[in-house]
Amino acid sequence: MKKLNEEAVIQALSRVIEPDLKKDLITLKMVRDVKITSATGVYFEICLTTPACPLKEEMKASCEKELLTDFPELTNIDIHFSAEVITRKSDPLIPGVRNIIAVSSGKGGVGKSTVAANLALALASKGAKTGLLDADIYGPSVPILMGVQGQKPEMVDIEGKNKILPLQKYGLSIMSIGLLIDERQAIVWRGPMVSSALRQFFSDVNWGELDYLVVDLPPGTGDIHLTFAQLVPIAATIVVTTPQKVATADARKGAAMFQIPQINVPLTGVVENMAWFTPKEHPDEKYFLFGQGGGADLAKQLNIDLLSQIPLDQSFSEGGASGLVVIDHPESNTAMAFQDLAAEIARRLAVQSHLTQR
Ligand SMILES: Nc1ncnc2c1ncn2[C@@H]1O[C@H](COP(=O)(O)OP(=O)(O)OP(=O)(O)O)[C@@H](O)[C@H]1O
Ligand SMILES: [Mg+2]
Repeated sequence: MKKLNEEAVIQALSRVIEPDLKKDLITLKMVRDVKITSATGVYFEICLTTPACPLKEEMKASCEKELLTDFPELTNIDIHFSAEVITRKSDPLIPGVRNIIAVSSGKGGVGKSTVAANLALALASKGAKTGLLDADIYGPSVPILMGVQGQKPEMVDIEGKNKILPLQKYGLSIMSIGLLIDERQAIVWRGPMVSSALRQFFSDVNWGELDYLVVDLPPGTGDIHLTFAQLVPIAATIVVTTPQKVATADARKGAAMFQIPQINVPLTGVVENMAWFTPKEHPDEKYFLFGQGGGADLAKQLNIDLLSQIPLDQSFSEGGASGLVVIDHPESNTAMAFQDLAAEIARRLAVQSHLTQR
């Protein structure tokens, strides 16, 4: 029988492989603070690459298995999980923001803002420091969606510079042009003004430390997209579409811009929104109200994955519903789909950051 000490515990844990990164926990420096707590007890911390890690339970089970193989006498294996989100590239314009996730779509009305807001809420609910930026300068909808319209952000003095503080709600840092100026003003703006407004979202807003900043882009392509892609490093882009086949042509046009070499923004995957409808009374049934296959089709054409199919949510059409299913109806299929999407994106970003850091 092996003698229980810290070194031997580390040795046992070096046989546990992180399923995504395909290396052991010790090589990845994910195990910290190993302590022998009693003759039959051990404590340690596993520092995950994202708090939204869907593999926690799997890793916990593998750790227990390897420890019990070497130390069958253990009765108390106490594993504490923490997380440090790593960044692919940090940018001087937004030094504390680790990963920007852009939400785009070829055409309007497909649920981009809904997806952006719920994705941000899902990431925050998993413990990630998350922000939501409404970059839809001509048609900002985040203030209404988040119920903060009319609120004015505060200014603070940071090292002699005046900075705008994002609003805080539901655990998110929120910023939108709709919070700064009268919405009717922006409609007449032309390219250069839009570009400078967008730049200010990064240079003049005090985002602080954020693991993820989810950005709601306007539909299609234009100055905003181009400026945004050139201004800050985008870690992931998702393309939202609806299930009907006709929508894919527009979505493809929008996404194609990101794939131009000079812009070169990583297209992470497609999200098919309003994929089907399941009535509350018949939880096993799916009604494909808007057709079928649009998401899969687009993903194939863009050569990226279909990350998620988000069902229609009945509550959206009921009076007074805000559209924030993740907090309003966390048990619903739609909210669960957003949670899974958040975990999947966080996981992909962790793998991507790990690979580029080597
Ligand atoms: N999964 C869903 N279930 C039910 N209703 C939804 C769903 N997703 C979006 N909607 C509804 O569809 C409408 C359009 O959504 P949203 O405003 O998010 O789209 P958008 O793509 O951001 O639009 P725009 O192009 O105007 O910015 C809203 O009324 C929203 O509540
Ligand atoms: Mg919108």
